[in-house]
Amino acid sequence: MNQLRQHLAERISLDGPLSIARFMAEALGHPQWGYYISRDPLGRAGDFITAPEVSQMFGELIGLWCADRWRALGAPDPFNLVELGPGRGTLMADALRAAAALPGFTAAARIQLVETSPVLRAAQKQALANSEVNWHDRIADLPPGPAIAIANEFFDALPIRQFQRKEDGWHERMVALREDELCLQLSPGIVPSAPLPDGVQAAPFDAIFEVSPARTAAMSELCQHLAKYDGAALVIDYGHERSAVGDTLQAMRAHEYVDPLAQPGQADLTAHVDFQALGDAAAAAGVIAHGPMTQGGFLQRLGIATRADILRQWATAAQSDAIDAALHRLTDRDEMGQLFKVMAISAADPAPPPGFEEI
Ligand SMILES: C[S@@+](CC[C@H](N)C(=O)[O-])C[C@H]1O[C@@H](n2cnc3c(N)ncnc32)[C@H](O)[C@@H]1O
Repeated sequence: MNQLRQHLAERISLDGPLSIARFMAEALGHPQWGYYISRDPLGRAGDFITAPEVSQMFGELIGLWCADRWRALGAPDPFNLVELGPGRGTLMADALRAAAALPGFTAAARIQLVETSPVLRAAQKQALANSEVNWHDRIADLPPGPAIAIANEFFDALPIRQFQRKEDGWHERMVALREDELCLQLSPGIVPSAPLPDGVQAAPFDAIFEVSPARTAAMSELCQHLAKYDGAALVIDYGHERSAVGDTLQAMRAHEYVDPLAQPGQADLTAHVDFQALGDAAAAAGVIAHGPMTQGGFLQRLGIATRADILRQWATAAQSDAIDAALHRLTDRDEMGQLFKVMAISAADPAPPPGFEEI
């Protein structure tokens, strides 16, 4: 029996339908049965694979990007090297190995990981056994000081709300109970359309629009921290450049898409990231947002093809094939190259960081 489903069904029958945001928050983060609290979901044996798990090249190039930003900040010592939602710690381990090429970087870096999952914290501890690591539950808990922050597939895991346009206006989509099954239902009340972006207000009937107060809050907190202490950040995720209508709520289990309501706590639940909303949060915090641009373009500009050539020099034929496959997966427009976007933040420096230069 799915105990979380039972718990949510009881709650709905007592208190009424839940917003999708509340449902997502419970499904992913319930202290006992939440998806991220109870398992390591990454890898072939898990539910999904992320870019750092595809290849070391991803984390290495991001490590070099961080090293460059550290130098551009004047090589502060100490500084906080922050990762939001670090998964197994693979990206950070690869990044640290590559960034060690810049003298002084490793000694100056204080590693700060924002992570809620005890299972993944244990994996991070193992992956980063040679480094001193500090963990935090929330961005607000980060210590003062200049910071370089990375967030890969963090924002997609934060809850969203959905609204649907009907003839009489916009209604919120809620998780309700029908004959003991969880289902989606529109709230009877009409929500004011004023906060919806211009292009969305005139959407056709039945169009769905997603907002994520949780993402805006996280981005605002991160950017306010950078504005106060100086620094830079890199946000990588699947999503769209401009706010747009569309239902992007999705659930994944064992590398297959499943019904988002069917197995709360047993399947990964995410939605595409609205990079325009993240950029607006950055601007409101007084920092500079660069991009977004596509992951494929970004990695190519950082030199992933050259890194692949170097790795191939020592590779067996099978390893060479694996490097080719990883390069394709990370950069091809039909794989992660186009859907995934990259946004960089700089606290004060208006010059585009590596990968974002005008060409
Ligand atoms: C999809 S995984 C990405 C992992 C890693 N960045 C990677 O690329 O492999 C999402 C990560 O965010 C963490 N996470 C999810 N919600 C969180 C929250 N509200 N606060 C902090 N970490 C969270 C998860 O535990 C996990 O480490």
